[in-house]
Amino acid sequence: MIRLYSMTSKLLNELNPDQQKAIIAIDGPVLILAGAGSGKTRVLTYKVAYLIFEKHIDPTNILMVTFTNKAAGEMKERIKKLVPGDMPLMGTFHSICAKILRSDGRHINIPINFTIYDEQDQLDVIKDIMKEADISTKDFKPHALLTTISEAKNELIGPLEYPQLARGHFQETVARVYLLYQKKLIESSALDFDDLLSKTVELFTKHPDILGKYQEQFQYILVDEYQDTNHAQYVLTTMLSKRHRNITVVGDASQSIYRFRGADFRN
Ligand SMILES: Nc1ncnc2c1ncn2[C@@H]1O[C@H](COP(=O)(O)OP(=O)(O)O)[C@@H](O)[C@H]1O
Ligand SMILES: [Mg+2]
Repeated sequence: MIRLYSMTSKLLNELNPDQQKAIIAIDGPVLILAGAGSGKTRVLTYKVAYLIFEKHIDPTNILMVTFTNKAAGEMKERIKKLVPGDMPLMGTFHSICAKILRSDGRHINIPINFTIYDEQDQLDVIKDIMKEADISTKDFKPHALLTTISEAKNELIGPLEYPQLARGHFQETVARVYLLYQKKLIESSALDFDDLLSKTVELFTKHPDILGKYQEQFQYILVDEYQDTNHAQYVLTTMLSKRHRNITVVGDASQSIYRFRGADFRN
């Protein structure tokens, strides 16, 4: 607690005792579960300020993951007010992965200038494939196929693995479409949103040296809205925090608590 008294009075006055406790715990994993509006996001922004101001951590050694780009923008504004100067890397899992793939994706054959497809681009590809493969949109909704492909990607199940797991007519159709879909994306030098995550996991798995570089860089990792992370995001968080293990995650106590059971950063 004593250290907190040397922080600016502005910082101190704006936190309750529980929040202060969460902020000064900087070594090792910290999991904070609390209700909506209880000040979790505030803890994360102030913790970043604490790390920089009080612990003299280089901002470039801090990674902060937000749930939306809007949240990242708001957080940047909040942190700019608290700490002038260099900013930590802040953004959604997707935007952070896009950055990582732009600089290192070439190691898994991703072109530097890859395009990111939005949902409409994705649906256009699915519809083209359905036409070419003679799959009727009356039998299968393009959107349903896309959603199922997206779920597979977030579970880190690739197009070669999916057919082995597919059961029934719908999933077997998804398996066919998934293969063709991924082929088309590669031909167009495009990644979809889910690829941003799964390809980063692939990059880190195939190139431990590159993972090591990011593990070394991100000595402090903070994740907001942790209850909403999918499997790929969980794997990324675990990979990145494995070396320093200074990770703070906050989540809504009332939502999907069961997800936290698998989230053990002490390993
Ligand atoms: N200790 C505090 N003193 C005053 N206002 C606070 C405090 N903690 C949080 N707030 C305010 O309460 C609101 C909700 O906080 P937030 O961090 O967004 O909550 P959560 O992320 O848990 O939903 C925000 O407007 C925030 O600025
Ligand atoms: Mg919040």
